[in-house]
Amino acid sequence: MRGRKIYEGKWKILYETRDPALLIQRFKDTPMLGAGRPRAKLPRRGAMKNQISAAVFMLLQKNGIPTHFVEVVGERDMLVRRLEMIRLEVVLRNIAAGSLAKRLGMEVGTTLPAPVLEFYYKSDALGDPLVNEYHVRALGLASSEELRVIRETTFRANGVLLPFFAEREILLADFKLEFGRHKGALLMGDELTPDGCRFWDRTTRENLGKDRARRSPAREATAYQEIFRRVCT
Ligand code: TMP
Repeated sequence: MRGRKIYEGKWKILYETRDPALLIQRFKDTPMLGAGRPRAKLPRRGAMKNQISAAVFMLLQKNGIPTHFVEVVGERDMLVRRLEMIRLEVVLRNIAAGSLAKRLGMEVGTTLPAPVLEFYYKSDALGDPLVNEYHVRALGLASSEELRVIRETTFRANGVLLPFFAEREILLADFKLEFGRHKGALLMGDELTPDGCRFWDRTTRENLGKDRARRSPAREATAYQEIFRRVCT
């Protein structure tokens, strides 16, 4: 069933299938941290990413939000619809953290009076700069209608995800989405895991996912497993 490899990045590999409209997305067992810092293996990371993403995509689809997810087909593999990706990272923030807190001088942990939507232009050469909708149009990345759908879908997804994670004692501080075109429709693609979202414990406000700044790789691995336990078991 698995055909030619068409893409490999830090987190995933994409393979063709017999159906040109479908791909297999394989999640890699990427070690924690990197770039000169100590690395720790996170056993079964790819498998956990697969299950967390599948659970979240199924939840979104059940709530009328279209995604590329079709079904889980292996421990680290999911069958997905083939997308023509829009070169944007769409970030939605409920709590000030990360680059927003830094850029605007806001205290980390401040609840935002209204969620903040941001676009980043996916360009390694430029370091994924923050852009607004005028820039997106100027770069020809997406049409006004596509931007409208992306905006609406992202806010609707937030409305579904916030209570889902709250029931699991998780505060969804922020998350990153990617979208792509498929047979005339715009679908959510990529993954939804602690590698693209800030998950905080609702009571202690401890970061349960990645925290590039402070965590030891071992603590990060434990936190990752904790998210998996709360979402998938
Ligand atoms: P930031 O505060 O570093 O801009 O990140 C905001 C959210 O977007 C956070 O949940 C992590 C996610 N994100 C990615 O998944 N990939 C990226 O390259 C960046 C910059 C952020």
